[in-house]
Amino acid sequence: MPEFSSLEYARMQDAGDELASFRERFLIAEPDLVYVDGNSLGRLPKAALELSRELVEQQWGSRLIRGWNEGWLDLSTRIGGKIARLIGAGTDEVLLADSTSVNLFKLSVAAMRARPGRSRIVTDALNFPSDLYVLRAAADLCGGELCVVPSEDGITVPLQALRFVMGDDVALVSLSHTTYKSAFVHDMRAVTAAAHAAGALMLWDLSHSVGSVPVDLERAGADLAVGCAYKYLNGGPGAPAFLYVRRSLQEALQNPISGWLGRDDPFSFSPDYEAASGLRRFISGTPPVLSLAMIEPGVDLVLEAGLDRIRAKSIQQTEYLISRWEQELRPLGYTLASPRDSAQRGSHVALAHAEGQRLNDALIERWNVIPDFRPPNVIRVGVSPLYTTYTELHGAVQALKSLASGLG
Ligand SMILES: Cc1ncc(COP(=O)(O)O)c(C=O)c1O
Repeated sequence: MPEFSSLEYARMQDAGDELASFRERFLIAEPDLVYVDGNSLGRLPKAALELSRELVEQQWGSRLIRGWNEGWLDLSTRIGGKIARLIGAGTDEVLLADSTSVNLFKLSVAAMRARPGRSRIVTDALNFPSDLYVLRAAADLCGGELCVVPSEDGITVPLQALRFVMGDDVALVSLSHTTYKSAFVHDMRAVTAAAHAAGALMLWDLSHSVGSVPVDLERAGADLAVGCAYKYLNGGPGAPAFLYVRRSLQEALQNPISGWLGRDDPFSFSPDYEAASGLRRFISGTPPVLSLAMIEPGVDLVLEAGLDRIRAKSIQQTEYLISRWEQELRPLGYTLASPRDSAQRGSHVALAHAEGQRLNDALIERWNVIPDFRPPNVIRVGVSPLYTTYTELHGAVQALKSLASGLG
């Protein structure tokens, strides 16, 4: 048996990995690059590369405006229906549109207006900055305020702390399910139940969960959700985002960006707005067909591999990283800035270091290792089980080690 910290051990793990063949389904343009940033931008599926030519040349080039009646108009709900299977939603509860930030704005304003007499939105300090800005803007617009629950350790926010501020003035609770910096995963069921007990609606940002951490919105009783497609779904840079509205809420909520494609019978070109029934009212304008279509190959790969297997490998790989940190990186000044318990951790490992920024830059420039850096001192090492190898993770640890000990 090779030593745990050896390259041979990492190679042995790769040889025994039942998801290993999925790596071949992605373009690996630089075989020596250690890419541990799939939690920011996923790799390019080969099927998307093939599709891109067909989309541009055949669909746009040849079919021209006829394309709208040949599938373009349904792309958003059809691919949304596939994403629904990854997050425990019905196929009529998810659609793709706009960016995560815009979807968050639409749903948070809609939620505030559906709870008249209540003025507060509750979130936590671990939420993504864009979410904090958008939620604050939504609260302002509706004459309310945003309450941001702090994190004592910068890694977690306990349910108790959230519950403490959930009074009868709270209209909406909105959190990232897996938080972007520490990868802390909230207990979706418990937090949603607490929000409901306070009479508030619950909105989840699934950007760092979808495609890597199993989610069951229906079982949790969640009301609303948003999330992006360019991380673990490998949908491409700036890919359109998705939104979820629980079926029984759809008729009660109004999209504040009431554009023509969210109207009932948009092709009546009527000057008056009348919301479409169901989820379609949350579409505002013309869908970005090329970007939307490019999301499907990545989603198909996740469905084919299965979230259970993806999650199992993700836990094994983040555990591998943490064990190596314990033995080799901790003595060099790295601290673990992610939860130690895998049940509370998403698919990346955050390592803090006093010289985090310098180390991160050197990893990229000198070692051909791409993680990412989040101020003030956190290096995030992302695991994307469909293509991340143990050999890559070994390379990342070796580089982190050499740099911090002044050898690299
Ligand atoms: C949790 C989370 N929410 C929202 C966003 C912003 O998404 P968008 O740029 O699509 O609005 C990000 C981006 O990384 C994110 O990580």
